[in-house]
Amino acid sequence: MHVLVTGGAGYIGSHTVLQLLQEGHQVSVLDNFSNSSPESIRRVIELSGLSVNLHKVDLLDEDLLKATLVSAKPDAVIHFAGLKAVGESVSQPLKYYRNNVTGTLNLLDAMGLAGCRTLVFSSSATVYGESVALPLVEATPRSATNPYGRTKLHIEEMLEELGASDERWSIANLRYFNPVGAHESGQIGEDPQGVPNNLMPYVAQVAIGRRDKVSVYGGDYQTPDGTGVRDYIHVEDLAAGHLAALDFLRKSVGVHVWNLGTGAGSSVLEVIDAFRRVSGQPVAYEIVDRRLGDVAESYANPEKARLELGWKAERGLEQMVEDMWRWQKQNPLGFEADHLLEPTDEEIVAYLGRE
Ligand code: NAD
Ligand code: UD1
Repeated sequence: MHVLVTGGAGYIGSHTVLQLLQEGHQVSVLDNFSNSSPESIRRVIELSGLSVNLHKVDLLDEDLLKATLVSAKPDAVIHFAGLKAVGESVSQPLKYYRNNVTGTLNLLDAMGLAGCRTLVFSSSATVYGESVALPLVEATPRSATNPYGRTKLHIEEMLEELGASDERWSIANLRYFNPVGAHESGQIGEDPQGVPNNLMPYVAQVAIGRRDKVSVYGGDYQTPDGTGVRDYIHVEDLAAGHLAALDFLRKSVGVHVWNLGTGAGSSVLEVIDAFRRVSGQPVAYEIVDRRLGDVAESYANPEKARLELGWKAERGLEQMVEDMWRWQKQNPLGFEADHLLEPTDEEIVAYLGRE
């Protein structure tokens, strides 16, 4: 099938594009490269030996978006494109509502025009807000603690209302827990710009010597070692969840929701220990105050996805860290060496070496 992937040059998108190609799908990537580089797609092409149609389009450019969808005529869309930095969403909320909510509205209009009504959407466990009843099931009441989370919540609601109004739509809201790791080749992975906000990329940069020490946000939570517990999921398992959801949507209309997590939590200190073991490097840390808005523990009940999609996460913490470490070692500065900032269409074509 022909799948159009918005945000396909980004972290989770690039891993999913590679799996789609390897499963025999035709893939079009649509990205504005605001947080990514065409280098990720060049590497996906190299790893797969297959081709990708790459479109430099901003979801906020309605006319170009419509023209692209109408001419591409995809059978399905996987929608990763969005802004995701929680702190930035607090200081620039309108930027997040415009990009994430308006961007998605534009995409839905363009899909309708192109006659494509199958959509997989990147939601997040952030829609569970400060819920304390664990493990988190899909029926847990939703709330948001910051503008980023609220954009995900609004989009989920918008998609539910769209599905209820027009039964031709098949939609999956996938709630990711904490995506980490990288492709086993070490060729593609997460390339955070500036200081990483998330734990794993930060720890990886301490292990490689780019940063001095990890600040552990809180050592007095009601958890086994006092530090925060999260459900880390390997990005390859997460990508496979998208293919399973697409398969489900082929046979079923309506709006569906699935947690994509492992069901098991790891603490901050367990993550640091795993990095020390795998890298053989010292990873210095210091326990500091809790971070505002953090919950003590968050982990999924992934049973619904197992039963309905036949999907479950296969990789454990050790492998997540091994793959992340390989990516970090092979690309100590991420894609930076080859980074093209705001490339033009001509530069992208030249870069990928194809018409
Ligand atoms: P990412 O930033 O690596 O990828 C997002 C991609 O979307 C980037 O390539 C960016 O250039 C593109 N993009 C952003 N705005 C765009 C626009 N207006 N038009 C076109 N392209 C645009 O992020 P990621 O980690 O791969 O996350 C993908 C999705 O999953 C996001 O929607 C994110 O909110 C969601 N998510 C991520 C996590 C996580 O921890 N990584 C967790 C839960 C949910
Ligand atoms: C964060 C976001 C969440 C988003 C998710 C994407 C917040 C409050 N939440 O989740 O909305 O969907 O990223 O993956 O920002 N930690 C440290 N030191 C650090 C960084 C993190 O101790 O330098 C701790 C945190 O307190 C937490 C754990 O590590 O206990 C994981 O943090 P992080 O990777 O930022 O993910 P979340 O907070 O779960």
